[in-house]
Amino acid sequence: MIPQQLHWWQSGTIYQIYPRSFKDSNGDGIGDLQGIITQLDYLTWLGVDAIWISPFYPSPMADFGYDVADYCNVDPIFGDLETFERLLEQAHRRDLKVIIDFVPNHSSDSHPWFVEARSSQTSSKRQWYIWHDPAPDGGPPNNWESYFGGSSWTFEQQTGQYYLRQFGARQPELNWRNPELRAVMYDVMRFWLDRGVDGLRVDVLWMLIKDDQFRDNPINTDWKEGDLPWAHQIRLFSEDRPEMHEVIREMRAIVDSYGERVLIGEIYLPLPQLMRYYGDTINGAQLPFNFQLILLSAWNAEMIRQLVDTYEAILPAGAWPNWVLGNHDKPRIASRIGRLAARVAAMLLLTLRGTPTWYYGDEISMQDVTIPPHLAHDPQGKRQPGYGRDPVRTPMHWDSGPNAGFCPANVDPWLPIAADYQQNNVAVEREDARSMLTLTRALLTFRRIKPALNRGSYHAVESRSENCFVYLREHGKQRLLITLNFSVEAQVVRLPEFGQGRILISTCLDREEQMNLASLSLRSHEGCIIEITESE
Ligand code: GLC
Repeated sequence: MIPQQLHWWQSGTIYQIYPRSFKDSNGDGIGDLQGIITQLDYLTWLGVDAIWISPFYPSPMADFGYDVADYCNVDPIFGDLETFERLLEQAHRRDLKVIIDFVPNHSSDSHPWFVEARSSQTSSKRQWYIWHDPAPDGGPPNNWESYFGGSSWTFEQQTGQYYLRQFGARQPELNWRNPELRAVMYDVMRFWLDRGVDGLRVDVLWMLIKDDQFRDNPINTDWKEGDLPWAHQIRLFSEDRPEMHEVIREMRAIVDSYGERVLIGEIYLPLPQLMRYYGDTINGAQLPFNFQLILLSAWNAEMIRQLVDTYEAILPAGAWPNWVLGNHDKPRIASRIGRLAARVAAMLLLTLRGTPTWYYGDEISMQDVTIPPHLAHDPQGKRQPGYGRDPVRTPMHWDSGPNAGFCPANVDPWLPIAADYQQNNVAVEREDARSMLTLTRALLTFRRIKPALNRGSYHAVESRSENCFVYLREHGKQRLLITLNFSVEAQVVRLPEFGQGRILISTCLDREEQMNLASLSLRSHEGCIIEITESE
């Protein structure tokens, strides 16, 4: 049963902003909150409903803000609390919701809590972090491996123990089994919810609780050279522990006590495990991020259809779906599959059932930028060459001027700007009736005005072409067919059972026509939204 009255986080589209790279307002080559404020009109013009801003808290930037030194403030690079409040107010004035990043798994080693905790084994904050005696041979307590390479444990000479950190050594992990720590972190959530933020995206939500006996993780015997370095072991004991769900219920209760707010979880897990994060009675995360479109091993009609059908089938009753195509950690969609195919991917994302999350710059077809080693920043890439995330975090292209309008001409942006920015930028693409930007905006508009898209049911349709994925979105009398050609070759899909239809939009942005659905030709990498006008 599809609810008629949807929450904003169900019917809307979320736009992710990586604040360092969106817009620099003070000429230091790094984006900031004031920069975001200046672009709010762009976002409302584009047609998104909410922004999620990656961390802007005080931080030594060892992991670009995912190493927080003060959970209740703003780093001077980005502005101050007052600027944040202005951003919130300005966004709300435009009916845009604001979701912030909450990073509860680890703090920075510069956080005063950790400075205190590491000072002695009897420190009052010692148990807020995870400490362990060395193994009998003096080595790390167990075999857990860091996502950034090497052991997950760092030895502290001064107190003779190791602390846990599954990312960088400067990101010590907080102890969510400690009630005091939990209470303090819940106060952090309230601090921001009290200020009026509309939701929290919780960083690595599935990792917060670790095995209480710190057992070794099993080795992944299928792993071979060239596979993801962090897939080398099966993280059975270091993440996704059963006790996690109690924490999520508590977080959700806090969020719910503020009314219409949303709890989003960053969770990289196979679908059956992911589903548990909705909670037994849908009292967990409202949107456990669904990264399956990012993780697919091949991009073709059959795999995508299977994925969507499996996800739809496995969703618990009352759970709302969501889809993500890209984020600040993964290669951009236009690089993974190419710019033409990315137009079809955009139509897919914005016509599937459930909340879409859009990564900044994908609307102007930004691609990954090769970063020369001497300009690299990302700790993940520095330790594991080839796995750096800088290429997907480069500055947004606003116009064809110097530095793409991201920062003044006389400063170096913190990461290099793509060489092709003069063709692919907001100013140029706004004027081009067939650009990716025009397509994205049109799709976002259809998603808003067509109930079949933002709340209708989903059914896969037999397309009689193995390279095409066709599905029906239906609400009341409104019936829309989405026909997507995932191949380079032209295809014909045969849908005689649907009679006549009218193409509302093609990814090529060049046809709107009435047609007989008995035979529909789709060009290379073309997708269409077709309104069924008459059934036989
Ligand atoms: C999440 C973030 C990523 C960060 C990591 C550690 O996966 O998305 O950018 O490096 O957590 O905080």
